[in-house]
Amino acid sequence: MNQDQKNNMSSSSLFSSKSSDLSGEIIIPGDKSISHRCIILSSLAIGESKITGLLNSSDINCTINSMKSLGSCIKLNSNDECIINGIGIGSLKQPETPLDFGNSGTAARLILGLVSTHPIETNFIGDESLSQRPMKRVTEPLIDFGANFQLRNSEFLPIDVKGAEHPIPIIHEMSIASAQVKSAIMLAGLNTPGITTIIEKERTRDHTETLFKYYGYEINIEEKDGKYFISFEGQKSLNPVSIKVPGDPSSAAYPLVAGLVCKNSNIKIKGVLLNPTRDGIYKCLDEMGANLRYFNKKNEAGEITYDIEISSSTLDPIDVPANRAPSMIDDYPILAVAASMANGTSIFRGLSELKVKESDRLLGIYNFLSKNGVNTSIEDNNLIIHGNVSGPKGGALIETNLDHRIAMSSIILGMVSDKPIKVDDTETIKTSFPNFIKLMKKLGAKLSV
Ligand code: S3P
Repeated sequence: MNQDQKNNMSSSSLFSSKSSDLSGEIIIPGDKSISHRCIILSSLAIGESKITGLLNSSDINCTINSMKSLGSCIKLNSNDECIINGIGIGSLKQPETPLDFGNSGTAARLILGLVSTHPIETNFIGDESLSQRPMKRVTEPLIDFGANFQLRNSEFLPIDVKGAEHPIPIIHEMSIASAQVKSAIMLAGLNTPGITTIIEKERTRDHTETLFKYYGYEINIEEKDGKYFISFEGQKSLNPVSIKVPGDPSSAAYPLVAGLVCKNSNIKIKGVLLNPTRDGIYKCLDEMGANLRYFNKKNEAGEITYDIEISSSTLDPIDVPANRAPSMIDDYPILAVAASMANGTSIFRGLSELKVKESDRLLGIYNFLSKNGVNTSIEDNNLIIHGNVSGPKGGALIETNLDHRIAMSSIILGMVSDKPIKVDDTETIKTSFPNFIKLMKKLGAKLSV
């Protein structure tokens, strides 16, 4: 490291260097989407729920703290158990201070839905990244329940919220494929008399629907003329549960791709959720010829998990259709790393939603690839990546702009690059995968400060 590079270091920056011979077995932390939903639904059940395997991350802490401010009693035991004494649907209390959602779009949007059908007045705030993400997509349908919102510049946090005193049920046809928007409406519908109906043209992750059933709440899902109709009656009750959160497939994708692209590697990842509304990247990697073996199928929380064995693979390029995006929306940055090592040119189509994630991820992927010598371009909302099986040149400093997935993907790219890649901020990884660096080092990744 030269003096210039040393001067460039922040306390959480990191160098990722060429690695090979990854080996070992790891357990992936709990799924982020399911963790948020378990905390919220357990808080609305009547009685004590026990959650194990909950993701212990800063995003999840935002949901825990907000639900506590809204009256839920939540305790985290040292033995990885979260005990929640739910207060029942319709019993949220008025919070005394603004609700702070940090970096978490899921927490902010889901809880906006929840609060919107309670007679509560509060203020939603978040960090710099979250405060630049669109919120009207959630507040617009919630206004139809009778809620009132004042958004900064009609679109962003901070938002003043005035929940409906006498909510009315809605029938809403989704205009964008977003599980957060769908789930916000579903949570609003829970405290609304009558039947709430949501119509999806493109199926998005269905954990809220699955968990409603797991907590004993009746819900009807029908497919008609290529659309999904989700409907249920509000103001019934949720049963408390004992639940184990399955491993996050989006987090698992980082060590998994590392195992594929680093030479002479063989690793095992245990307990990974595989759900057809989340498995787009797994389909892509299978189509690229990845050496993946799925075994030890289990049923957890109404979902299916597998252990996955991964060995170094020569990857084919891939043309990812736009209609696969909802099932892999968080996973394009790490799939881009796999594509950069493929034997030819890949194209990922229809990526407009990537522009409104924790950062503009379409640009973020382009930047971390092209700065490290991967021949990449953006055409309309498609990303084109010219792979090179010998790996990129590397050597660049990557600014992660408070985006955990750009940070983790850049680190994996560094593991196959000729020169180390420096990532400016690894602190942001704590939002979704706090032990990422430790687990990657355990597998043999060469990561240093
Ligand atoms: C999530 C839905 C997705 C995803 C996010 C988690 C969820 O967001 O990107 O990380 O838990 O519902 P969108 O609903 O904006 O697609």
